Amino acid sequence: MNTLRIAVAGAGLIGKRHMQLIRDNSRTTLCALIDPVPAARATADAEGVPLFPSLEEFFASSVKADGMILATPNGLHVSGALTCLAHRMPALVEKPVADTLDAAEALEAAEARCDVPLLVGHHRRHSATLAAVREEIASGRLGRVVSFTGTALFHKPDSYYEAGPWRTVAGGGPILINLIHEIDAVRYMLGEIVAVQAMASNAVRGFAVEDTAAVLLHFASGALGTFMLSDTSAAPRSWEQTSGEDKSYPAHPEEDCYFIAGTNGSLAVPTMRTWNYDGERSWWKPFARTGLARGTADPMARQLDHFCDVIRGQAAPRCTVHDATQSLRVTLAVAQAAASKGVVMPAIPVLEHEAA
Ligand SMILES: NC(=O)c1ccc[n+]([C@@H]2O[C@H](COP(=O)([O-])OP(=O)(O)OC[C@H]3O[C@@H](n4cnc5c(N)ncnc54)[C@H](O)[C@@H]3O)[C@@H](O)[C@H]2O)c1
Repeated sequence: MNTLRIAVAGAGLIGKRHMQLIRDNSRTTLCALIDPVPAARATADAEGVPLFPSLEEFFASSVKADGMILATPNGLHVSGALTCLAHRMPALVEKPVADTLDAAEALEAAEARCDVPLLVGHHRRHSATLAAVREEIASGRLGRVVSFTGTALFHKPDSYYEAGPWRTVAGGGPILINLIHEIDAVRYMLGEIVAVQAMASNAVRGFAVEDTAAVLLHFASGALGTFMLSDTSAAPRSWEQTSGEDKSYPAHPEEDCYFIAGTNGSLAVPTMRTWNYDGERSWWKPFARTGLARGTADPMARQLDHFCDVIRGQAAPRCTVHDATQSLRVTLAVAQAAASKGVVMPAIPVLEHEAA
């Protein structure tokens, strides 16, 4: 079978990672780079591909692609995806799907009008460990899930904020930058979140945005959850530091960042330790202890493989614009709840095919 020709828009941090993954994957070749800044010339030359300053100029050229990866700044995701739809080009759109809910909803409506697939880059949906968590929950061995405890406790160096002052003001901050990954992963594992409460603090960094947040989650299933987020905590309890999936972080494989408790058993993630009652369920009775297999494969590499299947029409996108819009909606609801100190209930629009 011919390799798929993939173009990448945005030769920044994550765009370069996508280019490396395309090079490493026997099913794909890089066919073009799109980026308006002069510095992108060196990257295109090193990759041996033509460079275009805009998507419009790429589509007007004779270069043919089978798929596009949009690794551009957040505010350009929707316009780029609409251009791809107009040219019937399957696209992998980096997260967040949009910088505003209105823009995300407009893209969702446009996508519904055509049959060109869009995949959103919430790459943890391709984690083998999270797939095992979903299987364990679906198996019923945990019983009915009643509680979720999550942490994203890590420390970003001061240089991170010095390099990107936009991260210290509205639009930045760990709720919008980091929590959206967690919200999408939590929804992927446990289903829809219908209400949130939150408190946020900027006591340590003193920026206009939070450095720490405590979140309450109410799931449609009736389960409740808590989530602690801090980017100024000297702690190893984040997905990046515990899962071993992104080799650029030091690994703490003995630590967990999620704990899921059901009526029959519980599961620590990503160590995948489980506790189950064999017979009578009582805190006086011992647990049967087992461990489930965890995966360490790079979910971004698995995401590219999945994108190939999507392009070939062999799979439906595992993270649709609808999924990503709902994760954005819940994340914005957390920010709103923290600001208002109230309860926020993000709307859950139901797609026609889901209602059927
Ligand atoms: N999935 C993940 O874990 C992950 C990680 C990092 C970033 N991201 C997302 O990827 C996107 C890019 O982030 P980044 O950190 O690589 O940013 P970056 O600033 O390093 O790179 C963005 C690139 O886009 C280019 N660009 C600007 N306007 C463009 C245009 N009109 N057409 C084509 N290219 C254009 C810029 O010149 C730059 O090279 C963001 O949306 C971010 O949220 C996702």
